[in-house]
Amino acid sequence: MTDFNPLRQLPCPGGYGKGDVFVLFGELFGRGYANGLVDEARRAGMTILGITVGRRESDGTLRPLTKDELAIAQESLGGKIINIPLEAGFDLDKSATGITPADQLKGIKSDGWEDAALDWTAIEESRKSGVERFTSALSSVMHELDALIPDSANVLFSHTMAGGIPRARVLMPVLNRVFKGTGDRYTPSESFWTSELGRLCAISFDEVTADTFQYLIDYSRLIRERVAASGGKVAYTAYGYHGCEVLVNGEYCWQTYTPYLQGWAKMRLEVIASEAWKKGINATVFNCPEIQTNSSALFLGVEISLYPLISALMKEGGGAVADGISKACQNLLKDDVALDDLLAAANAYLSNAIQEYFRDFSTWPLHNTAQQSSLMLASAGAMLDMNRDSKNIVCAELSREVFKAVGHLIFHTSWEPGAPVLWLNHDIVARQILASEQASEV
Ligand SMILES: NC(=O)c1ccc[n+]([C@@H]2O[C@H](COP(=O)([O-])OP(=O)(O)OC[C@H]3O[C@@H](n4cnc5c(N)ncnc54)[C@H](O)[C@@H]3O)[C@@H](O)[C@H]2O)c1
Repeated sequence: MTDFNPLRQLPCPGGYGKGDVFVLFGELFGRGYANGLVDEARRAGMTILGITVGRRESDGTLRPLTKDELAIAQESLGGKIINIPLEAGFDLDKSATGITPADQLKGIKSDGWEDAALDWTAIEESRKSGVERFTSALSSVMHELDALIPDSANVLFSHTMAGGIPRARVLMPVLNRVFKGTGDRYTPSESFWTSELGRLCAISFDEVTADTFQYLIDYSRLIRERVAASGGKVAYTAYGYHGCEVLVNGEYCWQTYTPYLQGWAKMRLEVIASEAWKKGINATVFNCPEIQTNSSALFLGVEISLYPLISALMKEGGGAVADGISKACQNLLKDDVALDDLLAAANAYLSNAIQEYFRDFSTWPLHNTAQQSSLMLASAGAMLDMNRDSKNIVCAELSREVFKAVGHLIFHTSWEPGAPVLWLNHDIVARQILASEQASEV
């Protein structure tokens, strides 16, 4: 278990500049965390390079991006994308007998999933085949990247990959009951996690969310050694999640979204960075605050801990920038709702006695309970309902502020991170928001 190690000081400017190379190891989506980091790399004048996970044809074949898809992706990234599919995981990879894990899930009904028994020999064969497919594609990707990275350039590899829910129809209704179910429709996350379906998800999450960071480090070894030998610096960053300190009753307090089933894979990611660090490799996992992105959309309630960021902005100094963000948030709320009502509702949830049990850092990640889950979902729903327009909400406004600030913090800290695992909590994120907005006003 990693010790809680928050970043408490704003970083000094990193040394990246023109001629240096930023490599995004994952795809870029409109509201995802990676945007903040890509913006920083662009601002520093770095050459930006990216990869694609590829696309699946209707018959399951994995293919590179088409010419049009590639042009759109490169335009949005602002750099060249190596068009060799790097989809991680193994849900659609065949075993020796030709069946995939997704095929095995096909016959399972959403009312009989608890007793489903999977063929684990076939799953292990699929896993191995997925790893071989991924690493062989990665080897080709690294060959192309090698040609694009000049000697003595500083290189920043940013790992964003997370996921691994097998693509099978049965899983969505089951997971919806785990993450969003109440009353009769609630399924405890532990019942799911200890079932064969849960075991398959655990292996798949490890593969996509954690092991891809190891492959990135391993397969870029030649680039790392060449660049280092010519005087350049190579850094690796990854986005983690391991709870986050936010303001509860006016004090910063570590809390977490529950049930975070990716938590075990995220701890494995931390171990990968720590092991690399021991070998002298500059690899750091940055544990980030909860925000709303494509990937977090399934987890209703994860966004509640985002609201106290507004209070953190005031606590860390306030001023015109904090007022501007508060005003923008207030304008998104219904006419009869004050921002303070939203903050009070978030605080009431975060300080509820039910949370105490989930606040033990050493037992993270914990499974949900019916009581905790129904409180979280009811509170989340009530707060979302305070927004005037469900498509334009306070969480989106705050998420943008967080991913921009986190991008800045990770970018500059990665130059001399000092540790393989760091937490970016609301205190440092709020201070960064205030500092960067003030800087842009000068
Ligand atoms: N959203 C949050 O609240 C939050 C909090 C802390 C950390 N993070 C982490 O930040 C990172 C970026 O996530 P995000 O929330 O910005 O969402 P996102 O949806 O923008 O990013 C998810 C990334 O995972 C990649 N990915 C998904 N499935 C993949 C697969 N099978 N193979 C290869 N790549 C795959 C995507 O290409 C994308 O780059 C993730 O590691 C996530 O766990 C998110």
